[in-house]
Amino acid sequence: MSDFTEANREYFDKLATSYTGRFADASRMLASQTVQHRNWISERWTDTEAGKSKEIRMLEYACGPGVVSMSLAPFVTQIIGVDISDNMVAEFNRNASSLGLADKAIGYKADLLAENPAAQEIESACANLDMVTISMALHHFENPSTALKRLAERLNKSGVCYIIDLVAHTDAHGHAHEQHKDDFAEAAHTIKTHGFSSEDMQRFFEGAGLTGFKYEVLSEPLTFSTEERSFSKTVFVARAQRA
Ligand SMILES: C[S@@+](CC[C@H](N)C(=O)[O-])C[C@H]1O[C@@H](n2cnc3c(N)ncnc32)[C@H](O)[C@@H]1O
Repeated sequence: MSDFTEANREYFDKLATSYTGRFADASRMLASQTVQHRNWISERWTDTEAGKSKEIRMLEYACGPGVVSMSLAPFVTQIIGVDISDNMVAEFNRNASSLGLADKAIGYKADLLAENPAAQEIESACANLDMVTISMALHHFENPSTALKRLAERLNKSGVCYIIDLVAHTDAHGHAHEQHKDDFAEAAHTIKTHGFSSEDMQRFFEGAGLTGFKYEVLSEPLTFSTEERSFSKTVFVARAQRA
């Protein structure tokens, strides 16, 4: 694990038990926007003509407590959550269990972006996927472009990649600035990219061999409140699929 990834692991491992309470408003919004965008993301779900009676296996990478996974659980047949933080994986498995989803959703600790393969059980669980999702984590990856390539390789034909993340802030000259690092000051050392534009995402998806690109900036902001202040962020959803 690189020093940067290790810094993420350490930070989120400490935050894990308070994460759900601290980001409750943001998590509710991520879940509801995901469900509202379900047919925009994919046509294959357990209740649609294209997906009925089929296996629909989904990986949430950098899953944290699994907000997106749990919101999509009724519409897929199997969910694998993977995160580099043991404590986040424990939160994922605790949530799955308390929602009665322990048979359908299982979390593992692994770094699927590392050169070396993960343990055999995890590699098998994370192969032949119908969907890979990454929520609010792409900006924490050392190399988002390589990350999407590695994860897209795990998709079946027609499998979908669905991303939610921060929109890039640019100044009057079109240069990205570091507003996100200022707002999330204590997490600044875990952030690599200051959000993503539609062009960024299209480039990453095309580089990963995916087609059918869509990107939408959400009109509802993602809100964060601490004891000292509240602020909001503009986020996007994006999707593409293996041809
Ligand atoms: C801001 S949280 C998002 C959690 C969750 N996806 C959500 O939407 O609430 C970022 C998550 O990414 C994980 N993470 C950061 N870098 C990672 C990496 N290289 N591989 C896997 N997980 C990573 C962290 O441990 C943390 O759980």
